[in-house]
Amino acid sequence: MAGPKALVAGNWKMNGLTAELKEVRLLADMLKGVRLACDVMVCPPATLIRPVVQLLSNSRIKVGGQDCHAAAAGAFTGEISAEMLDDAGCTAVIVGHSERRTRYCETDAMVKDKAEAARRAGLTAIICIGETLEERESGRTLEVVSRQLAGSLPAGFASDDTVIAYEPVWAIGTGRTPTRDQVEEVHRHIRRDLIEKAGEEQGTGIRVLYGGSVKPENAAELLDADNVDGALVGGASLKAADFIGIIKAYA
Ligand code: PGA
Repeated sequence: MAGPKALVAGNWKMNGLTAELKEVRLLADMLKGVRLACDVMVCPPATLIRPVVQLLSNSRIKVGGQDCHAAAAGAFTGEISAEMLDDAGCTAVIVGHSERRTRYCETDAMVKDKAEAARRAGLTAIICIGETLEERESGRTLEVVSRQLAGSLPAGFASDDTVIAYEPVWAIGTGRTPTRDQVEEVHRHIRRDLIEKAGEEQGTGIRVLYGGSVKPENAAELLDADNVDGALVGGASLKAADFIGIIKAYA
């Protein structure tokens, strides 16, 4: 069954100095003339958004932020609003990454507010959900994912402004990945939830990415799974050669 057009997004996290811009240049060069059946995005740290946008202005690669504040502006020292990301040239923003949920105590309600802010600013919200190892081992994966989804989705979400990234917390940065069957089970469940909430057309049109230790070696297997519409890639997105190796799963 043909699903929505896939998206491969790279989350650089807190990595990247000006010197690393050469990887972006390399990425753009390597993708020139390559026929791809997916969209490609990089989410650099805020300090590099503008130079990355500039470098990619003649390419098909989009740029996203890694987080945003719920408010449009105000006295929130250190924060960045969705409007600022839009102003800097981003078209999307990751919200609710598990590192933010666990280290910065972000709740579903906070993630929902951020996703709403993204919609307000005209950005696509890439909403991350996923279970911990303890939750998986106690058989609560589907329940956890459903709860996070229900709590994090903004009212009126639609396939053109919302992407879901299923990222099992135990697979992030660990080199461990779920089996294809496990991925398919969760993605099928997410799809069912999305259809229930947004109706058949919107629910089937929303991209559901897989994230967690995606590498060139396992990309084809993971990304070919049912209801997987691309990947959110951390570590392997930092080097152009590795990132391309994943993107090529769609070449
Ligand atoms: P990883 O990170 O690919 O390094 O496991 C994925 C993510 O956190 O989005």
